[in-house]
Amino acid sequence: MLCINKIKPLRVQIKQWRMAGECIAFVPTMGNLHAGHLQLVKAAKAQADRVVVSIFVNPTQFNEQDDFANYPRTEEADLAKLQSVGIDLLYMPEREEMYPAEILTRVSVSQVSEEHCGAARPGHFDGVATVVTKLFNIVQPDKAFFGEKDFQQLMIIRAMVTDLNSSVDIIAVATFRESDGLAMSSRNTHLSEVHRQQAVQLYQALCQAKQAVLEQQTSFAKIEQSYLQVLIEQGFKPDYFTVCRRHDLKAATSKDTQLIILAAARLCNTRLIDNIQLDLEL
Ligand code: PAF
Repeated sequence: MLCINKIKPLRVQIKQWRMAGECIAFVPTMGNLHAGHLQLVKAAKAQADRVVVSIFVNPTQFNEQDDFANYPRTEEADLAKLQSVGIDLLYMPEREEMYPAEILTRVSVSQVSEEHCGAARPGHFDGVATVVTKLFNIVQPDKAFFGEKDFQQLMIIRAMVTDLNSSVDIIAVATFRESDGLAMSSRNTHLSEVHRQQAVQLYQALCQAKQAVLEQQTSFAKIEQSYLQVLIEQGFKPDYFTVCRRHDLKAATSKDTQLIILAAARLCNTRLIDNIQLDLEL
């Protein structure tokens, strides 16, 4: 596994692979790798000749300084995990390499960025869209892999790639879960033992809400209200719990059939997000 932290040598290597006609897959991460990230790598290995992973805790996507400072950084363990799954190249730039000076250009995807996590974390998705654009320009992959846990992020990156005529093929990978159902996330390491036991209730609420939507006995608004209340009673501070149509993440109406329920809630200081998809037959 090559470990590179500068753009120039990275480009030399990528050019060599490209000249040999090899397909390059890219998995961008912020480190603190877990089995969910390794699933992305596995999917990337199955669909390309070369796999590049980046680890960069991107300061511009944190809207709270404490959150950035406390974001888990586990470089040695991450390297060992990537060695064990076998990737070709790890790109681990310093902050100065990605943001050498104040940047004058930002990528902002309107509409789909505005609600849900976008409303709860102002500026977050501009930071994501900007760093992913920069990483795509640096790595120049054929394909890039993103988890469905961050479904809104995935939609934003798809919109960005379409609107900017990027040739990167965006591949979605299903959410990887712990054995009790909790979606894997780097932030789970912040949970105390007690909160870790409780955290799965977010996924359980999504599963129950999905069932309620499928039974079609009450309105989406009532289902949302009742599960927001359930989460509050269980000790969460929910940001949102909302039934959306899958193609644009707008509030679902009774005419929509391809749905997703999105949820985000804080447990103590840890922000958890998750979602569940469902299809209705009308
Ligand atoms: O999903 C993440 O880990 C980050 O938002 C990403 C895509 C690596 C950009 O920093």
